[in-house]
Amino acid sequence: MHKITTRILAPSAALIALVLIFLAPTAFSQDDMVEVPTSAFTVLERPAVKFEHDNHNELAGLDDCVVCHHGQTDAGLMDMENSSEGESCDSCHPVNPENGKTPLMRAYHRQCITCHTDGLKGPVVCGECHKD
Ligand code: HEC
Ligand code: HEC
Ligand code: HEC
Ligand code: HEC
Repeated sequence: MHKITTRILAPSAALIALVLIFLAPTAFSQDDMVEVPTSAFTVLERPAVKFEHDNHNELAGLDDCVVCHHGQTDAGLMDMENSSEGESCDSCHPVNPENGKTPLMRAYHRQCITCHTDGLKGPVVCGECHKD
């Protein structure tokens, strides 16, 4: 009796361990991102924007992370040489910044809509991005 239970339990424990190993690193990564994070906005006027990070970038042929994840120079300018991947946009673009810096909503609209308009591909109308 005892032997049978161990035989059944041993492989399933190994399986659980395996599943955990694969889940852990991706749990909060861009692989499972299905919408743009909205936690920085206290109130949402529009439905959160659907954005499947990896799918989007594959479809759009975007291999260069810095296209979206630019950094910041010592002088406080946009740095297109150094990627800030892993840092959220709102860490540099608050919702209500001081002295003429780009606010979070405008940062998103400029980046997303400009590329869609320039490339004549991807949504440009409010309701196409802010879908219920
Ligand atoms: C290409 C996609 C895109 C289009 C088109 C777009 N937005 Fe957005 N918008 C975003 C993203 C991304 C955010 C930040 C994440 C979020 O709010 O889901 C955002 C944020 C916002 C916010 C701040 C968050 C909130 O819900 O209060 C408002 C307001 C907003 N957009 C209104 C609009 C309006 C109005 C239009 C049309 C004139 C529009 N957007 C078109 C992508 C888009
Ligand atoms: C089309 C624009 C775009 C491209 C290209 C892009 N990303 Fe992102 N990525 C985003 C947006 C938007 C977020 C959400 C940012 C936030 O949380 O404020 C994000 C989030 C992330 C996150 C999660 C951490 C975070 O910032 O919240 C990682 C990690 C990441 N991206 C890595 C990459 C890597 C690596 C590449 C290149 C292979 C890449 N990204 C290319 C737009 C992009
Ligand atoms: C490490 C800091 C940093 C991060 C992270 C960052 N930015 Fe920026 N970004 C800047 C700086 C600095 C500027 C120039 C000053 C300003 O406009 O606020 C800038 C400017 C911009 C501009 C204006 C460009 C123009 O043509 O005027 C857009 C759009 C923008 N960022 C979008 C984003 C988006 C979207 C994300 C997240 C995917 C992001 N930024 C992440 C630092 C950052
Ligand atoms: C540098 C260019 C570029 C940037 C920046 C960009 N996109 Fe796109 N996007 C594209 C292209 C190209 C397509 C069309 C892909 C196709 O279907 O061929 C697209 C398609 C889409 C689509 C429809 C396909 C899908 O993935 O569901 C959505 C939604 C979208 N983009 C949202 C966004 C949002 C939100 C942002 C800003 C966080 C953004 N995009 C930034 C180039 C870009």
